[in-house]
Amino acid sequence: MPPISIAIDGYSSTGKSTLARRLARDLGYIYIDSGAMYRAVTYYALSNGLLDEESAHKPLLDSLDHIDLEFRKAADGQQAHIFLNCRDVEREIRTLEVSRYVSPVAALGPVRKKLVALQRGMGQRGGVVMDGRDIGTVVLPDAELKIFMTASPEIRAERRYDELRARGDQVSYAEVLENVRQRDHLDSTREISPLQQAEDALVVDNSQMTLEEQYGYVRELVNQVM
Ligand code: C5P
Repeated sequence: MPPISIAIDGYSSTGKSTLARRLARDLGYIYIDSGAMYRAVTYYALSNGLLDEESAHKPLLDSLDHIDLEFRKAADGQQAHIFLNCRDVEREIRTLEVSRYVSPVAALGPVRKKLVALQRGMGQRGGVVMDGRDIGTVVLPDAELKIFMTASPEIRAERRYDELRARGDQVSYAEVLENVRQRDHLDSTREISPLQQAEDALVVDNSQMTLEEQYGYVRELVNQVM
């Protein structure tokens, strides 16, 4: 059986990347975190003062050709990190500040065009697990397995809050919950490739599932299509 493509979409902080990374490792596939790419573009824009709401972020759009993104093995050799213009920015893209600006940036047509083309290139040979918002609908519409993940906003905010605190970020639960809700809204209502469940996607609501239960359930789904 040739390697398949697995698309994992869903709301923010549903644990998509934890699941996708583990699946990819067990199957010997490549894992692609498409959200990291939108975050890296946002980080670049923030670092270079390129966001300007009045002009619909024209400075950023004019600079898109100067943004080079790549996944590479990090210095610790464990997992792939995102490199922005040859610099490892895996940690910098996970701040609440980047989370606040990423949805408006990800709604910009030229940004999506650039990143979707890159993602399709990375996924073209199969043997890939890619997670995001529009993977099953737009990036890899022919993926053999599509999963749509969801969980209540409160549970997702709790998980994200724990993650941010664990790395030392001084954030409050209320602001994390507010960010989760705001991104849900912006991601689902934007004009270009909004977050929506592909018709042939299988829904996994993990509000009440442990990580192990969820993994076992999804592994079963993978076995059925392989
Ligand atoms: O997956 P993560 O939460 O890190 O993604 C950050 C943001 O990037 C999302 O809130 C969304 O605005 C955007 N995104 C997207 N399309 C994708 C992946 C992420 O618009 N395929």
